[in-house]
Amino acid sequence: MKIALLGTGAVSRVLAPAFLYLGHDVVVGTRSPLTTLDSNTAYARLATRYSALGLCTFADAVPDAELVVNAIDGPSCVAALTSLAPALAGRVLMDVSSPFDWSLPDAVLDPVNTDSLGERLQRALPKAKVVKTFNTLAAEAMAQPSAIGDGDHTVFVSGDDASAKAMVTELLRSLGWKDVLDLGCIRTARATEMMLRMWIDASVALGTHMFGFKIVR
Ligand SMILES: NC(=O)c1ccc[n+]([C@@H]2O[C@H](COP(=O)([O-])OP(=O)(O)OC[C@H]3O[C@@H](n4cnc5c(N)ncnc54)[C@H](OP(=O)(O)O)[C@@H]3O)[C@@H](O)[C@H]2O)c1
Repeated sequence: MKIALLGTGAVSRVLAPAFLYLGHDVVVGTRSPLTTLDSNTAYARLATRYSALGLCTFADAVPDAELVVNAIDGPSCVAALTSLAPALAGRVLMDVSSPFDWSLPDAVLDPVNTDSLGERLQRALPKAKVVKTFNTLAAEAMAQPSAIGDGDHTVFVSGDDASAKAMVTELLRSLGWKDVLDLGCIRTARATEMMLRMWIDASVALGTHMFGFKIVR
């Protein structure tokens, strides 16, 4: 499958090699490829190691992709993706973004309670098929679920389009996820985005980012 990973942060740097390993064609989107290769040393190292990994602008990454991953900084992602609306029409948009408002101390969430970034993206991109997932996990845990509790923990999906959720669920399963819980429509992204307050406090209490949430039936 052709996958466009939008973003050059920790999430893309974890998912890109994992998707390549699974045999997918992966291109990474950034605002300026030259600036990224010059100033993002972690990304530049990844690019050197994985020559099959393409790097281009956000706009150039989207048109050929069957799946687009939003791994752009939370406060910036709605505006950044709205500018790509025509190219994103009809595409599956896997959204991993977190609504932390970094301008405020102590990990304040915005939006919260009555809205979510997942819903904002779906409203801004009505022709795209937004699937919220992975946002309750540290980047390092996304592609190696078995590294935590032998893989016995839960990843969530939220979205309005059943076929888009099926595509994303299949991709998650190929990464080793056993417990994929479909919470329902994109409105349920509020629930997983609000888990981030718990994620922050649990990571401090545990002294690690490598943990997961588990729904016990
Ligand atoms: N890191 C984690 O463990 C983790 C876990 C769960 C969810 N998330 C969420 O996943 C997303 C990606 O996280 P991350 O840690 O990999 O990276 P990040 O540092 O949150 O974001 C990096 C990306 O955001 C882009 N960006 C920043 N400001 C922008 C702007 N004004 N306009 C357009 N693009 C802009 C950057 O573009 P350039 O490439 O041009 O610099 C870069 O590609 C975020 O929403 C984050 O909250 C992260």
